[in-house]
Amino acid sequence: MKIYAHRGSSGTHPENTISAFKAAAALPVHGVEFDVHMTKDGELVVIHDEKINRTSNGQGYVKDMTLAQLESYDFGAWFSSKFKGEKIPTLREVLYVFKDTHHHINIELKSDVFPYEGMEEKAINMLRDYRLVNRVVISSFNHEMIQSFKEKAPEVETAILFMEVMVAPHLYAEAVGADALHTFFPTVFRRMGQEAVASGKKVRVFTVNEEAYVDMLMSVGIDAIFTDYPKKMLDYLNNR
Ligand code: G3P
Ligand code: CA
Repeated sequence: MKIYAHRGSSGTHPENTISAFKAAAALPVHGVEFDVHMTKDGELVVIHDEKINRTSNGQGYVKDMTLAQLESYDFGAWFSSKFKGEKIPTLREVLYVFKDTHHHINIELKSDVFPYEGMEEKAINMLRDYRLVNRVVISSFNHEMIQSFKEKAPEVETAILFMEVMVAPHLYAEAVGADALHTFFPTVFRRMGQEAVASGKKVRVFTVNEEAYVDMLMSVGIDAIFTDYPKKMLDYLNNR
């Protein structure tokens, strides 16, 4: 079972910052996951929430601020004074961290609340620029966006994100054009989990921070877990 560092090594570093990504890049984990929003001036930036309030010393929506405005805030001190001065990273800056590493890169397009016009095209151009199309999976809770992404870039792996137990999600994923299923981990303990794994589509689950769940998840046959504590989970898997 593979491990993805969720929002970077976000249990030990401020989530979705360059230090969280450098910490993840230094680990022999399979992959990394992070979240993307779009600024007022059309830049793709890496942050989880629609607003900057929780993870910075500023306030307001990402979509209402330019990149220059966003870069004036501190995205590290809320986590620990040790990380004071961390900036919001652009997608380009994060891809640069993983440009020459072995890591699989899960980019979550956070377009489920605000429809960011042109987000897919910008992401596709960047991935082609960096020659990363074969090392990326694009996921979203906005399944219309996944469908449209797949139409525009069929060579890029895609995944639907969902939270609830569904009937036959692998068939739904097929209809959307998604190659993989990314789901809240308890859903795979239901029949749908076994069916999804048996369908041959990769099933990856979030967010698994407790070792206690790992053995159960391995017995289901999922491909990977997303965790905020990649080092801890790696040590557990290596020593079990
Ligand atoms: O991509 C898996 C997981 O990150 C989805 O939920 O809210 O942490 O982005 P969230
Ligand atoms: Ca995410």
